[in-house]
Amino acid sequence: MPDELHELLEGNRRWAAQTEQREPGFFSRLLQQQAPQYLWIGCADSRVPANEILGLLPGDVFVHRNVANVVVHSDLNALSVMQFAVDMLRVRHVIVVGHYGCGGVKAALQDLRIGLADNWIRHVQDVRKKHRTWLDGMEDEELRLNALCELNVLEQSLNVCETTVVEDAWERGQGVEVHGWVYGLHNGLLQDLHMTVGSAAEVAAAYGLAIGALKTRYDLIRKKGRP
Ligand code: CO
Repeated sequence: MPDELHELLEGNRRWAAQTEQREPGFFSRLLQQQAPQYLWIGCADSRVPANEILGLLPGDVFVHRNVANVVVHSDLNALSVMQFAVDMLRVRHVIVVGHYGCGGVKAALQDLRIGLADNWIRHVQDVRKKHRTWLDGMEDEELRLNALCELNVLEQSLNVCETTVVEDAWERGQGVEVHGWVYGLHNGLLQDLHMTVGSAAEVAAAYGLAIGALKTRYDLIRKKGRP
């Protein structure tokens, strides 16, 4: 085995020992059951690890990650994760987490060809297309990328709300809330994009308000110049 893999295993042993030392019985308790309150749907980017960012331990957050945190209704992988998390684990919150400087979103914005993933990123291009006129009015390339990263979060959050999994949960009166957040690689901070939805009746208004607030915020930045 190459040295760097040995280091990984050594690191793991140190971590397991420290965790058990800090909290004796930690692993044997987790063995009994997992009861996370949150489902995190995020980007596969190595700089956006759910547990570390939230300061949470194993057992605290159920995680699904893919390129550019996309949620599509034909993705059995994402849907299976959601179904298990919502129906079986009964998570209270589903959080879609995008991040600034996302490579997948950038490829969608700049029509970059990167290979097979182009077909996946097509879903982010659909988001771009939906808001094209507004995005094209933005001269600053970095600002436009940030805006599309945020728009993508809101659109994917909307998709979560419209999955059969979440619709059925709401239908039977189960309390589950959908949220959209964005993460700053530059400062390690999460920001709420104010799309919190707890029932089917709230979806359209919450989405509309969040999109409106996002665009107003960027229009202000454009007027004032960047801070
Ligand atoms: Co990304």
